[in-house]
Amino acid sequence: MKTKFLSITEAMNQGKGEVAIRGWVYRERGSNKLKFIVLRDSTNIIQCVLEKEKFKKQWSDIDKLQIEASIEIEGEIKKEDRAPSGFEIHAKKFNLVGESIEFPINKDLNEELLGDRRHLWLRSRKMTAIMKIRDTILDAMREHWHKKGFYEFNTPSIIGLQCEGGATLFDVDYFGKKLHLAQTWQLHAEPGIFGLEKIFTIQPSFRAEKSKTSRHLTEFWHAEMEVAWEKFPYLQDDAEELIKHIVKKVLEKNEEELKILERNPSKLKPILKKRFPRMTYTEALKILEQKKMKISWGKDLRTIEEDKLSELYDTPIIVTHYPKDVKAFYMKEAEEHPKEGKVVLGFDMIAPDGYGEIVGASQREESIEKLSQNLKNQGEKPEDYEFYFDTRRYGSVPHGGYGMGVERVISWICGLDTIKDAMPYPRTMTRFYP
Ligand code: 4AD
Ligand code: MG
Repeated sequence: MKTKFLSITEAMNQGKGEVAIRGWVYRERGSNKLKFIVLRDSTNIIQCVLEKEKFKKQWSDIDKLQIEASIEIEGEIKKEDRAPSGFEIHAKKFNLVGESIEFPINKDLNEELLGDRRHLWLRSRKMTAIMKIRDTILDAMREHWHKKGFYEFNTPSIIGLQCEGGATLFDVDYFGKKLHLAQTWQLHAEPGIFGLEKIFTIQPSFRAEKSKTSRHLTEFWHAEMEVAWEKFPYLQDDAEELIKHIVKKVLEKNEEELKILERNPSKLKPILKKRFPRMTYTEALKILEQKKMKISWGKDLRTIEEDKLSELYDTPIIVTHYPKDVKAFYMKEAEEHPKEGKVVLGFDMIAPDGYGEIVGASQREESIEKLSQNLKNQGEKPEDYEFYFDTRRYGSVPHGGYGMGVERVISWICGLDTIKDAMPYPRTMTRFYP
C-alpha cells in the first residue's frame, strides 16, 4: 500500500494514474467475479472495481464486505461517466481496516429510530452536507465581526437570573442552590462592552421549550453581539450585513452540499442584492390586514402571522417597534409612540419561506427606574439585578445588541424540514439521547 493517501476529491482532481484512498463502504454490489464498491470519505464518493482474478487470497473478505466497513484501496483512477461521481478506480491492492456487520441505518427507518441512531446517521451524505454548511456559517460569523473590530467574549452558562422571561428557564441544582441555564449571554455581555466596546459570542443557550415545533430546540447555538455607543439603526444594518455575508460564503463554498440537499441556490441569491424590507410592527399589522389576517394591536406576532409576512418577500424582513408589553424588560422605550400604545426600539428579523424569527434585537434601556419597573411588571425582583444595573451607574452609554439563532439560520439556508437536523445531536423536550 502506498503510504500517502489522497482524499477522494484529491484523487478525482488528479484524475489519472495510481492513487491510494481510504474510507467507508457506501454501497456494494457484484457477482462472484467482480465487486463494485462505492467508497465514501468526508470529501466525496467514488466507485471502485475489484476483480476476483487479482485478489484470490483476499476474495472472501471482499465478498463479505458490508455497508460502512472501513477499507483502503490502491489502484488506477479513470474517468467513467457511468459511475456515480464520474470516476472509477480499478483496484490493485485492498486492505480491510474494520469490518461492519448489518449497519442499522436504512431508508425505511422512521424519524424516531433515526433519532435513536443519530450517532450513525451523522455519516449520511445529508448530515455531512449540513455539517459542512454549518461550519461555513460559524466561520462566516466570526469573520464578519472580526473584520469590524469585534472581540469574541464568552459568558457562563450557569447563572442565577432570567433575561427572556421566566417560563423557559431550566433549573440547575447548584450545590443546593437553585440556579438556571442561561437563555442568553446578554446580562453578562452588557458589562463587557465597557472594556471591549464591540463584542460577540457563539455559544449554546438553553430554553425549556415545551413546544414540539420544527423551529424550537431546548439547547441551541446563539450568535450574539453587543456594541457600545451605537444605536438602533446600526443593529439593523449589522444583522443584515451578517446575513448577507453568511449567504455569500455558503454560495461560494457549498455549491456541492446545496446540490446534495436539493436546495436551489437561486432562492438565496436575491439576498445578496436586495436591501431587506424594514417595517414597524404597526405597519406589519396593516399589511397583514390587507391579506385578511386581522390582529389586534398589542398582540405579539405568532408563527402563522410571521409566515404570512415572510411569504410576501424573497429576502428576510426586519420588523421594528413592537409593543412594549410583548417584549423583554431590557428593550429601550422609543421616544415617539403610535397612537395605539408604547413601543420599543427592538426588532425581529424574519427569514423567508416560513423559517420564522432568526434574529431578536434591541437598543438597551438605560434608565434603572424603567428597568426595575419592567422587571416588577414581569414578577421579577429588581434587587437581584444589582450587578446588571451597575452598567447604568458608571459611565452608561447608548448600546445594544442582538442574538441570532444559529440553527434557525442553518435550517433556512439548507431548506431543512426540521431544525433538529441543523445540529449533530439535537435536544428537544423528547429527544436527549444519544
Ligand atoms: O429573541 P431572543 O429570545 O433574544 C435574546 O435572547 C436576546 N437576549 C438576544 C440579544 O439581544 N443578545 O433569541 C434570539 C434568537 C431568536 O431570534 C431565534 O433565532 C433564536 O435566538 N432562538 C432559538 N433557536 C432555536 N430554538 C429555540 N428554542 C430558540 N429560542 C430563540
Ligand atoms: Mg425573540
